[in-house]
Order: sequence, then structure tokens, then C-alpha cells
Amino acid sequence: MIVLRERGPLFSRTPDCAGVLAVFGARHNRAVLSDIDVFGMPISAAHSLSLPRHLVNLNCGVHSMRDHQHDLHRHLLLQALNEHRFMGQQASIDHGITAFLKSWRPGHTISLLSEMRQLALHVSSRVLFGNQFADRIELGLLIQSYFQLRREASTPFSTSKPTLRESLIQVGTTLDAALRAYIRWCKGTPETADGILATLATLDAPEALSEDELVAHSNVLCVSSIEPIAVSLTWIILILSQLPKLRRELREELYKSGHAQAAGDFSRILQLPLLDSIIHESLRLLPPNALMVRLTTRPARLGHVTLPDCCELLVCPFLAHRDPERFPQPDTFLPQRWHTNKPSPFEYFPFGAGGHSCIGRPLALYLIKSILARLAQPYELVLTGDQAIDWRIHIQFMPSNEPLMTIREASSSASQDGGALRGRVGHLLKFESSDKRVLH
Ligand code: HEM
Repeated sequence: MIVLRERGPLFSRTPDCAGVLAVFGARHNRAVLSDIDVFGMPISAAHSLSLPRHLVNLNCGVHSMRDHQHDLHRHLLLQALNEHRFMGQQASIDHGITAFLKSWRPGHTISLLSEMRQLALHVSSRVLFGNQFADRIELGLLIQSYFQLRREASTPFSTSKPTLRESLIQVGTTLDAALRAYIRWCKGTPETADGILATLATLDAPEALSEDELVAHSNVLCVSSIEPIAVSLTWIILILSQLPKLRRELREELYKSGHAQAAGDFSRILQLPLLDSIIHESLRLLPPNALMVRLTTRPARLGHVTLPDCCELLVCPFLAHRDPERFPQPDTFLPQRWHTNKPSPFEYFPFGAGGHSCIGRPLALYLIKSILARLAQPYELVLTGDQAIDWRIHIQFMPSNEPLMTIREASSSASQDGGALRGRVGHLLKFESSDKRVLH
């Protein structure tokens, strides 16, 4: 444990915070992440910005709940996000990806993060709101806009807070009304409504959720299905852009698995070892949730130390994933390490661990795999010339400037090397000499 600050918060907005501590090691990670009553989530930015009640409600997802309420809602959401449910939507997911990629033209340049946000929006809005809900993209866009505004308004360094707060209230109020209309549509046409959220809205059980609760879950689940997926895809594609040989091997794996031809059998995609290890290794080195914040809800014991009430704790997957004892050559991108390396859930946790661990992990992995598989077969994405890419933590750990990528046909005989990844992101990654695009 390291004391980072003796008074006041770093990442939460708690006014009476006793100080900030960074916590390391699987034992401490487990202790902090498992006891969600003692090590609670920080209060939402909506409270600290004194937003109206309906806007505070928009972010009252399961992450903000405690005790019995947390257990109950987590259980319901896990049922709705169950693998069998979204596997029933495979054809729709595939259709969404294929339709989006139709606009891609070899030779064109794309802004990678923005493009991945668009793609994730198109695909996730189908899964969540269903194919039959005609305004799914508009609703997803509204959720995205509200999320971006809220993120801006809640950063400690934001300069234009009064104007942002006004926009936030305007967009948030429209979003609240649109989500209520969607939920009423689901309840009014249960035989038509087909998305994951419709399952929640039409629950016919004693624990059926209130409209406020459904609004909050719909907003939080939709944000979670777009932003971290877009950021993960951006990091993975950026890494692959430096590794032409690995891209070829991945294409071969996809081809051999029959994924190219068998547009009907999608479950195979979950069992492709190279695709799987590329994703694991990318999320190890560049996890979108690079750190997690907790606040002690009462004086608490951690290891040999007694912590005061309201003490901010930082748990850091980014650093845990670079522990040389667990991950030899920690800075090197080595997908093959996943053939033998089996770290514990508190040594490798890009999807969190313990009581608040990610309930959307299977869906996220399925979407990421489906999108990468559909992308990697016809196209090569390479950096449009050498680029210095920087990173920032803006809730998520993400690129701070847009990587510009050129779309090429995978079969093209032109050199597929593209530009070299430089800058602060380039310095976070090392590649094996057999397939390295850049030498640092
Ligand atoms: C690559 C994509 C994703 C990543 C990297 C990710 C990561 C995480 C992490 C690290 C946590 C724990 C946060 C903490 O303990 O402070 C978390 C929690 C959560 N995630 Fe995800 N997530 C992803 C996708 C999704 C998706 C697709 C959904 C739902 C559709 C989802 C829903 C949630 C929810 C509701 C929680 C809170 C659970 C609770 O508090 O009990 N996530 N996620």
C-alpha cells in the first residue's frame, strides 16, 4: 500500500475524504474488491453536480447499489445477460456488423476510436433494444451523447461547467423521456419487443423492476455496451496494426474454423485460441478500466493497517497486469503466454473481480470476437503513416488522440506494414522481434 495523498480525494468527489491509498498485490486486491460493504463505490458525479432527481436516477445502475438490493438486481441482470439469451441473437449481431462494414472502402482513412464507437453503437443497440425497436440507433446515440457530456462535466479540470451542466440537464431530460417511452413500448407489445432490455422490462415476477429502475439499468447497460467495447477494439486493432504476421495467422485461424463461410454458426468463434489469446493479451497490457476506485464506508482493516472511514482506495489492474512474477517479460505483447499462464481473478482482472465484477463480460467478449472476426477477414487496418498516440484516463483508459487508420483489402498485394506506433502508447508496448513493426 502507498499513501498518495493525506487529505482530500484524487478520483472520487468526496468532500470529507480522509486521504488516498494505492493498493497492490492479489491479497489486497481480493480484500478490497470482495467486501463491497466496507469498500464501497464512490458517490456518483450526478450527486456531486447537484443534478435533478431524474438525472441522478439515470446512473443508479447496479454498481451504485448495496446489500440485498445489489444482490437482487445483479441476479436479475445476470439472467437477462445470460449467454443463451444473446447467443439467440447471433444472426442479428452478425447482420449489424456486416451492414456497418458495408460503408468501408479500401483506401479510405478512418478515425479509429470514433469508428469503433459507431460500430459498437450499431451492434449493441440491436442486442439491447432489439431488432423490432425502430428508434434503437437514435436512442443509443442519445445515451452516448449524455455519457460524453456527463464525463466532461464531471472531470475535475473541466472549465466550462455551467454551460455543460445546462446541456447535461437538457440532454438528460430528453433521454429520460425516451427511455420511459421505450419501456412502455416493451410492456405494451411484449410479443414484439425482442432485446435484452425487453426481457427485464417484461419480467412477470414478484421482483419485477420499477420504471425508474428500468430506466437506470437501460442507460447504464447501454453505455457499458458501447464505450468499453469501442475502447477495447481500438486498443486491440492498434496493437494488431503493428503485427502483420500475427494478422495473417489470425486470418488463417478464422478461415480454417470456417467462420468465413459458415455465417450461421457463430458459437465457434468463442473457441478460437489465437483470437482468444490476442484479446486476453491486449486487455492485459491496455485494460480500458485501468484503475478502480473505492471508499471505506467505516474504519476498516486491510492487511496490518487500520484505515479511517472515507478513505479513497485505488486498485490498479494496469499495474497488476505488469507484475513480472505473474507475467514474465511484462511489457511484451505475447499472446502465446495464455496457453500456459492461468492467473487468478485478482491478478488479471480487466473485467473487475469480486462483488462488483462485470456482469456483461460474456456479452462483451462475444461482441469483440464477432467484430474482430468480421473485420480481420476482408480487411487490414494499418496506421496511416507513423503516429504518436498518447493516452489519458477519462473514466476509461483510452487514446487521447485519434489513431488514423487506412483500410486495405486483406488480399491486396500492396505492403500491409503501414505506419509505426509511437508516442506514449508506443512506449507502453514491446513486440517480439519476429513480428515487430517498431523498434523502441
Ligand atoms: C470490454 C468491455 C467491458 C469492460 C472492459 C468492462 C469492465 C468492467 C469492470 C472493470 C467492472 C468493475 C468495475 C469496478 O469494480 O469498479 C465492470 C462492472 C460492470 N459492468 Fe462491465 N465491462 C465491459 C462491458 C460490459 C457490458 C457489455 C455490460 C452490460 C451489457 C457491462 C455491465 C457492467 C455492470 C452492470 C457492472 C457493475 C456490476 C456490479 O456493480 O455488480 N459491462 N465492468
